[in-house]
Amino acid sequence: MYSLWLTLTALLCFAEVCCARESNAERLARGLTPLRPRFRSILPGFSPTRVFTAKRNVASNFPIATSYSGRIEVRNKDGDVLGYVKNWSGSAPISGVNWGASNEELHIQFNIPQTVNDPGPFDIVVTNPNFASPFYVGVSTGSPVTLKPGELQALGFSNVPQTPAGSPPMNTGSAYTESRIWTFKKDTKQLIPQYINPDGSKPATVIAFSIKYNQIFFVENITAWNVQYYWDYASDVSFFLAKTA
Ligand SMILES: *[C@@H]1O[C@H](CO)[C@@H](O)[C@H](O)[C@H]1NC(C)=O
Ligand SMILES: *[C@@H]1O[C@H](CO)[C@@H](O)[C@H](O)[C@H]1NC(C)=O
Repeated sequence: MYSLWLTLTALLCFAEVCCARESNAERLARGLTPLRPRFRSILPGFSPTRVFTAKRNVASNFPIATSYSGRIEVRNKDGDVLGYVKNWSGSAPISGVNWGASNEELHIQFNIPQTVNDPGPFDIVVTNPNFASPFYVGVSTGSPVTLKPGELQALGFSNVPQTPAGSPPMNTGSAYTESRIWTFKKDTKQLIPQYINPDGSKPATVIAFSIKYNQIFFVENITAWNVQYYWDYASDVSFFLAKTA
C-alpha cells in the first residue's frame, strides 16, 4: 500500500514536471528555488468556478480570547498598500496579491487574549476559502528547512494544516508546515510571522514579495536573496489586518 502510494506520488510528480510548468510559488512551497524566467509571464491563472462552503471550527488558542477578522493588507517598506492577499482557486491559492475584484480576497480570523499587548503565536484561519483544505495561513516547505544567515532558503506562504505553537516544521502529508507562527501588534495591526527552525531556533523571518511572479514567500535575508536570485527580485513587505471591503 505504502509503495503504491509512493509510486502514485512519483507519477504525479513526474506528470507535474513533464507537462506543466509549476509556478514559483508552488516550487517554493516544495522547498525548491525559483525558476529562471521564460519570455511568457507565468502568473498563476484562476478560474472561479468552484464554490467551497465547508463549515470550519475556529480553534481558540487562548482561554479568554477576542476574535479579530478581516483581510491581509500587504504593504511595502514605504507603507504603500500593494494589495490584499488573494483567495483564488487552484494550487498556491493564497501566496500572492489579488489583482482582481474584492471578492477574490482572502478573509481571515484569529483569536487573541484581550489582556496581552502583542499576543502570539496564534493561528490564522481562512473563513472564505476558494480552495480545498487545509485552511490555516502559514509556512510550507518541501523539506524541514533551516533559515540561517549565509544560507539561501525560502519558505512558501501557503494554506496549511494546523500545527502546535512553537512546533518546528511538521510533516503534514504533502509538505512540512507551521501554522501557529503569527503575532499581532494591537496598535498598528501588523501581523508578524516567526518561523521555527527544525532545531527550535527562531530565525529572522522576512516576508518577501515578487511582483513579477505575484508570489509571497519567506526568507531570512532579502538582500542576500536578491543577489542570488536577481531574476526573481523580491521586496520585503509587511502584513496588516484590514477591514474587508
Ligand atoms: C473567496 O472564494 C469563495 C469561493 O469562491 C467565495 O465564496 C468567497 O466569496 C470569496 N471571497 C470573498 C471575499 O468574496
Ligand atoms: C544580508 O545579506 C547581505 C548580502 O549578503 C549582507 O551584506 C548582510 O550583512 C546580511 N544581513 C544580515 C542582517 O545578516
